[in-house]
This record gives sequence, C-alpha cells and structure tokens, in this order.
Amino acid sequence: MFMKSFYLTTPIYYVNSVPHLGTAYTTIAADALARYRRMTGHDVHFLTGLDEHGQKVAQAAAENGTEPQAWVDTIAPKFVEAWKMLDITYDDFIRTTEGRHVRGAQAFLQVLKDSGDLYQGHYEGWYCVPDETFYTEEQLADGKCPGCGRDVQFIREDNWFFRLSAYQDRLLAHYEAHPEFIQPETRRNEVVSFVSGGLKDLSVSRTTFTWGIPLPFDDEHVMYVWFDALLNYITAIGYGDPDRAEEFAKRWPAQYQFVGKDIIRFHCAIWPAMLMAAGLPLPETVFAHGFLLTKGEKMSKSKGNAVAPADLVARFGVDAYRHYFLRDVPFGADGSISMEGMVQRYNGDLANDWGNLVSRLLNMTEKYCDGVVPEPPADADATADDLELRGIAEALPATYEAAMARLDYVGALEAAWMLIKRANRYIEDAAPWNLAKSDETRPRLLAVLYDALESVRIAALFTAPVMPNTSAEVWRRLGIGDPCSVTDIAAESVWGKLPAGSLVVKGDALFPRIYEEE
Ligand code: MSP
Repeated sequence: MFMKSFYLTTPIYYVNSVPHLGTAYTTIAADALARYRRMTGHDVHFLTGLDEHGQKVAQAAAENGTEPQAWVDTIAPKFVEAWKMLDITYDDFIRTTEGRHVRGAQAFLQVLKDSGDLYQGHYEGWYCVPDETFYTEEQLADGKCPGCGRDVQFIREDNWFFRLSAYQDRLLAHYEAHPEFIQPETRRNEVVSFVSGGLKDLSVSRTTFTWGIPLPFDDEHVMYVWFDALLNYITAIGYGDPDRAEEFAKRWPAQYQFVGKDIIRFHCAIWPAMLMAAGLPLPETVFAHGFLLTKGEKMSKSKGNAVAPADLVARFGVDAYRHYFLRDVPFGADGSISMEGMVQRYNGDLANDWGNLVSRLLNMTEKYCDGVVPEPPADADATADDLELRGIAEALPATYEAAMARLDYVGALEAAWMLIKRANRYIEDAAPWNLAKSDETRPRLLAVLYDALESVRIAALFTAPVMPNTSAEVWRRLGIGDPCSVTDIAAESVWGKLPAGSLVVKGDALFPRIYEEE
C-alpha cells in the first residue's frame, strides 16, 4: 500500500536550560498530530531536537563553569527524558552538534556561496544574545531588545552576508500563491507586512566567538546560529549526504513546521529565502502557535514563572497533562493556563465524563453479563436514542478529521466529547440497573450495554492521539488490541466492530477525582 509521507517538525530547542511547559507545548501538539496521522495511514516522520550552538548556549556553559560541548551533553538527556515522560513519539531527534548536521549545514553554505548569494561585508549593530537576533538602532525599544525586552550588545564584525533582500519579491509572490504557507491568518498578515517593508541582507557568520559550525570556505567564521539551526530540518533527513538522497527526496518538503509566534520571521522569511537560494522547495505550512501565559505574562525561565512539566505530570498524570494544554488553549492563540484551570478540566472532562463513563459501564458489564460483551443488537430493534448515539459515533471520524486538518485540537476533542457525553446520558436515560431487574427487559439491557461499550471503544480510538495511555488501557479493559497502533482509523471506527464475547475487566478509576484542598 502506498503511504503518503507526512513530515512534521518542531523548533529545535535551545539547550541553555531544561525543558519547560512552553517547549513541551509545541512538542505535545506535534506528537498528537503525528500519532493521528499514523492512525490515518500516513508514513509519518516526526522530527524534534536541540539547538546547541551560539552565544546563548556558550554563555550558559560558561556560567555553569563548563565547556560548551560538555554542557550540551549534560542538558540533551534532560530533553530526551522529558519527551519520554510525555510520551512523545518522535521518529528522529537531531542535535546540531552531530556530524550529520555539521556536514549538511556546511554543504548548504557552500551551495549558497557558489550561487553568489553570500558576500563578505562589515556588520555594525546590536545583538540580543537571549534571542540570538541582530537589531538595528531604530529597531530597539528604549535601547532594549524589541523581542524580549532584555539588554542588547553592540557588535562590530567582518561577516559573511546572505542576500536576503534579493528574495523579497519572490517571498511575497509565494505568500500570495500559497495562502496555506503561513498559518494562522494573523501570522500570515504579520509576515507579509514585515517582508513588504523591505528586507536587509543578513549577517550569517560570527567571528568574535567560536561555538558554532565553521564556514567551509572561511574557517575564521562560525555560522550564525539561526542559519545553522534552521538547516536542521533538512540535514536531519539527509540533505547534502549522497547516501541519503532518496530519503531526502521522499521527505522534503515538510507538510508542517510547528513554531511559536515569536520565531515566525525566521521560519517564514529567512528560512524560505534560504531554501529558494539553494533551489529547494518550501515547506507546505508553517504553523505558529501562541504563548502560554500565566497571570497574563508569557511563561519563561527568565521571568521566573516557568513550571516544570514533571511537577504537573506527577500530580495529574501524563495523559491529563497532554489533554489540558490541547483542550484549553486553542492552537494558534495565546492561552492562559493555571492550576485551577487544570484541576477543573481534569475533574470535569476526565474524572466526570470519560473516567466515569468507562468505569460505570465496565462495572455493569461485569455485574450483569459476567464481563462478557453481549451480541450487537439487531438494527430493526434500535430505538431513537440508540440511533442518535450511533449517529454521533458515525459522524465523529469526519468531524475529527476536519478539525485536525485545520489543527483545531479543541474542535477535535470536543467532537470526541460529544460522543462521551452522549454515551453518559444514554446510560442515564436507559437505566440499565432497572433493566436488570427482570428477564423481560434483559434483551434491552444487553442492547444498551453493547451500544454504550461500542461508543467507548470508538471514543478511545479518537482520544488516543492526545491520551494514548488511557486509550490503550480502555481497549485493554475491553479485551481488544492497541488503539495506538491502528493504521486505518476509518475502518477501525465502523460501528459494530466490538466483538461479542470479548471479556472485559473493570479496573481502577482512570482519573480519580482531585479535591481542591490537595
Ligand atoms: N532555538 C530556537 C528555535 C530554532 S528552530 C530552527 C528557539 N528555541 S527556544 O527553546 O527558545 O524556543 C522554542 C519554542 O518554544 C519556540 O517556538 C517558542 O515559541 C516556544 N515557547 C517558549 N516559551 C513559550 C511559551 N511560554 N508558550 C508557548 N511557547 C513558547 O527559539
């Protein structure tokens, strides 16, 4: 069977410090999409990794009294651990200090040099180390970095420049011809207006420090860290390596590149211009999500309001963690997050709706049917309620797909919750505990249990991209396979696939209620 390649990337994270909720957010969103696309039969390649060069990382190493390489080698495993804890199913993890990246990035620079897109010049201006960004005097905000508000330093260097200005018209033409290239719309408008305002050539090398990739044609210079970092998206899949040409041709261009809204100019102006200069196609979509805010402020280490993912996972569990961020923060917009919000979401959606549905139903199946899934009822006997429940389950795949196709995780989860909530109400209305009182109503009892169990099976399938552990556990309790390894979700979600005779186990509460005073 031909499987369409689906290449998805996250930004590569600076290793100046350990992962926090912000970096985890992008990664979880990408993971949920990667998992879902595997379930829709795509040949998914999900890349994440680390941005290990540059002044900021060198500074962090110095502050910790160590050499940069030793420093990045200490921090890298912390990211790997965090992604393991959050059940991130990346297919590749790139570190920019790896040989494959260094060689690919050098090959790329050589191509640009040969095509005449690089020239030597003199740079004088401001530099923000935390953002690794060059600024002109006019761009500063009261003498500070206009991006992060921190101090900037004046630098004077003889550098290599990239003819970014030459790509202005081609970039604008691309945005025009491909409205899907930058999403959401607000970000697209922002980039269009930025590029329309004129692009300056970009300094792409540094000479006043050494923690970077040497230019292949001038080893006095190391590559500007953003140039180096952006190239990870192609070096990881084999750019510049003749032995991996086939892989590169199959994977590039990427279907989605996820970024935060603060790094959109790098990804939507500089990056596509670099690709154009090298004669490579552009990614299909760069999608920029918003910021997670705590008490109205961007959450970041420097503001001292960063929370460690591990603390929340310890309290709520990994699935609830993943669910909260994707359900509460519309992807693309800024979103306020809080402990109260998380407790509410947990108790409402997970303990009351989903957990409760599963446990009451499995309990009843044990109690009334010795844990054996009954025969599916005959269509002719279906009541209006049965048909409505089944109708919601049957509409779910298309609604869910449409939401995921626009990266609307909230919409996708709401669609799954329509089924979960309707199934809870279905049980309330049908009252199996009454139907169990007489032999006469036993056929109806079995029909109700089957339909409710079948709804649970399907709901678990569609919540799997976000809550993989819970879904796997629910299917295990239903006595069926692993929803996370499904590769044809459409076929799998056909009503009536839950096999009669399967033995269910009730198990502990999936989401024990959390009481505020805890
Ligand atoms: N190393 C660069 C990216 C290079 S990609 C070729 C970088 N790294 S970062 O570690 O500082 O940030 C990575 C991502 O985390 C960015 O997309 C950024 O938007 C995101 N977040 C950092 N703090 C955030 C929040 N508080 N909320 C949401 N995402 C935020 O930039």
